[in-house]
Amino acid sequence: MSKYYKLRVEKVTRETPDTISIQFAQPEGARISYKPGQFTTLLIPMNGEQIRRSYSMSSCPHTDDFIVVTVKRVADGKVSNYLNDTLKPGDLMEVMEPMGNFYIDAHPSKKRHVVLFGAGSGITPLISIAKTVLFAEANSQVSLVYGNRNQNSIIFRKDLEEMEKQYAGRFRVVHILSQPVEAKKSSLLSTFKKVIPGLNQPPAQSVASYTGRLNQSLALKILPTLPEWDSDLTDYFICGPEGMMEEVKHALQIMHVPANRIHRESFVTTAPAERHGTVETENGTSPKKSAQEVTIIYEGSEYKFNVPPDKTILEAALDLNIDLPYSCQSGNCTACRGKCLSGKVHLDEEDGLSEYELKEGYVLTCVGHPVSEDVIIEIG
Ligand SMILES: Cc1cc2nc3c(=O)[nH]c(=O)nc-3n(C[C@H](O)[C@H](O)[C@H](O)COP(=O)(O)OP(=O)(O)OC[C@H]3O[C@@H](n4cnc5c(N)ncnc54)[C@H](O)[C@@H]3O)c2cc1C
Ligand code: FES
Repeated sequence: MSKYYKLRVEKVTRETPDTISIQFAQPEGARISYKPGQFTTLLIPMNGEQIRRSYSMSSCPHTDDFIVVTVKRVADGKVSNYLNDTLKPGDLMEVMEPMGNFYIDAHPSKKRHVVLFGAGSGITPLISIAKTVLFAEANSQVSLVYGNRNQNSIIFRKDLEEMEKQYAGRFRVVHILSQPVEAKKSSLLSTFKKVIPGLNQPPAQSVASYTGRLNQSLALKILPTLPEWDSDLTDYFICGPEGMMEEVKHALQIMHVPANRIHRESFVTTAPAERHGTVETENGTSPKKSAQEVTIIYEGSEYKFNVPPDKTILEAALDLNIDLPYSCQSGNCTACRGKCLSGKVHLDEEDGLSEYELKEGYVLTCVGHPVSEDVIIEIG
């Protein structure tokens, strides 16, 4: 059963001109636990409706007593701009319990290299993973390859510099700037010892920076400069725009990195009209033209309703004011996850679920369509 908490905003920190970090106090008498890399969902009342958006925790579950999410403005985005413009200490906000499959389990006995590729707001789960591994695994290395427009848009720039000092020899950041600001225009540039044109190698022990975009060829140049980049004991975590994640994944495939070592988190949700794939019938011949009945078991109640062929199970439920859990509505976050106890469900999007979850019969109602008559899904 998904849990909801009402949290108090303790502090709002402006990280960059278009990004804030929101620090929440842990709820009284309870402690919200989460894994580094996971996200929570904010429930925001706006113009008479409740909007949900997922945000990864940028805090570290091992060292921070509070919970922090970091929100970057998206052009014309409803919630990211609302939060950046209006949120203040003392505000109360409803959040869902943390979830997500993009996380790391740290253990003191581990000795490995964790390589993080991020761009823009994609840093949020990565910094939580970095802080956790550096704190909890004394023998592990962490490398972060981080793409941004320029020096001023680097989220957590200071924290990253401090972490490099604190964990010298175990943590390094390679910055990639697509449009670096020239020295006379930016006082921040002085913190960069050198901005190296794309083809150069970063000098050892410096804040290395490449100009350009984090793409396949740049990733292939950077990977061999990282310690133990070819080790079997390296885990790769990628978070950022879809295009960047694909490019980095291709680079890792070229380097023969096994698929189970590559972890990705997508922040981008698709518009409702783009959400539907082809719904196949059980034998894969033609889409169902009529509505299918489904049964959902949730929080001790049983809901039976019809799902029209052009709707997902979640959309049909929400149309009927059945209050099922959800967040991203695009198959990324797993907030709507349930177990299919009988019948067959087609998923437009499977990436949000692990291979194990798929094998065990888990489905996501926000991208799920019933393709047989006896579908029963238990959520919780
Ligand atoms: C698992 C998960 C974790 C996330 N973690 C974070 C986080 O830590 N920090 C953070 O800032 N955001 C994060 N996001 C994205 C966040 O949930 C919102 O999608 C984002 O803040 C935009 O919401 P909005 O209401 O402002 O924009 P909307 O009003 O929903 O969208 C406005 C326009 O922007 C596009 N758009 C939406 N999201 C993005 C995006 N991320 N990048 C580019 N274009 C976009 C939409 O397609 C639309 O065209 C996460 C998303 C997911 C699924
Ligand atoms: S609501 Fe996010 S996966 Fe379904």
